[in-house]
Amino acid sequence: MSVQPPRPFYVPVGNEEQVFKAAYRQGLSIVLKGPTGCGKTRFVEAMAHDLGRPLITVSCHDDLTTADLVGRFLLRGGETEWVDGPLTRAVREGAICYLDEVVEARQDTTVVLHPLADHRRQLPIERLGITLDAAPGFCLVVSYNPGYQSVLKDLKDSTRQRMVAIEFGFPTPDVEEKIVATEAGIGPDRAAELVRLGQAIRRLETGGLREVASTRVLIAAGRLIAEGLSPRDAARAAIAGPLTDDSTVTRGLIEMIDAYLSGSDD
Ligand SMILES: Nc1ncnc2c1ncn2[C@@H]1O[C@H](COP(=O)(O)OP(=O)(O)OP(=O)(O)O)[C@@H](O)[C@H]1O
Ligand SMILES: [Mg+2]
Repeated sequence: MSVQPPRPFYVPVGNEEQVFKAAYRQGLSIVLKGPTGCGKTRFVEAMAHDLGRPLITVSCHDDLTTADLVGRFLLRGGETEWVDGPLTRAVREGAICYLDEVVEARQDTTVVLHPLADHRRQLPIERLGITLDAAPGFCLVVSYNPGYQSVLKDLKDSTRQRMVAIEFGFPTPDVEEKIVATEAGIGPDRAAELVRLGQAIRRLETGGLREVASTRVLIAAGRLIAEGLSPRDAARAAIAGPLTDDSTVTRGLIEMIDAYLSGSDD
């Protein structure tokens, strides 16, 4: 008897679980939109668990080619042998295939994504001269961060309109407190302080910041506190440092940290 692994810890922020599961049952593809560190990856892990499907994740980058996704012939002991790429494996196994930061991938990858993302649910493998029908359970999920969007790197409308969109923002303070406390292993009061600081930073309207403080950096600060660092030292290292390199902005963040959190000597 195999033991079921526990469900990845994910606290819903809105109706995203219902939307994902409805889209999954209908065989629709899904795009998760949202800033870094807001829970997209954790969400997909929880959904794969609930739906009982394997999860195959691909982190997309600007060199990612169709062959990286679909597969290629490799030389093995003097023979050429076809090796499936992660997308092909997912299509054969009926897995959930999660393409993280899909806009980073080379444009030509859309050629294989389109027939998979729409009602055809097919993967053409040109090198083998075959077209695979996606096994039941297969689901294409992509993520992208609209904040990084540039004219060059945007999802094409023809790709977007093949997908159901789920928009992620930061959780409400009470939910975020629960997440930070659980993930960092700190008390609710400490977690609440960090969340108040995070919210204050988010209200800054990114004056000089590329991205605001995510749930991820609040958790990292909480982890350092759990190790015995003072909340101020923890927040400088885990929140101010990662958010900016600019010395003026850093000073501003440190003032906020000192206003919201206690130091080692108080
Ligand atoms: N709703 C949530 N429930 C549980 N944990 C959460 C939630 N939102 C965020 N987290 C926590 O925040 C961390 C960052 O989330 P995650 O890695 O899923 O972000 P992401 O949106 O995929 O970011 P990126 O775009 O940088 O990949 C997770 O490790 C998890 O601890
Ligand atoms: Mg992620």
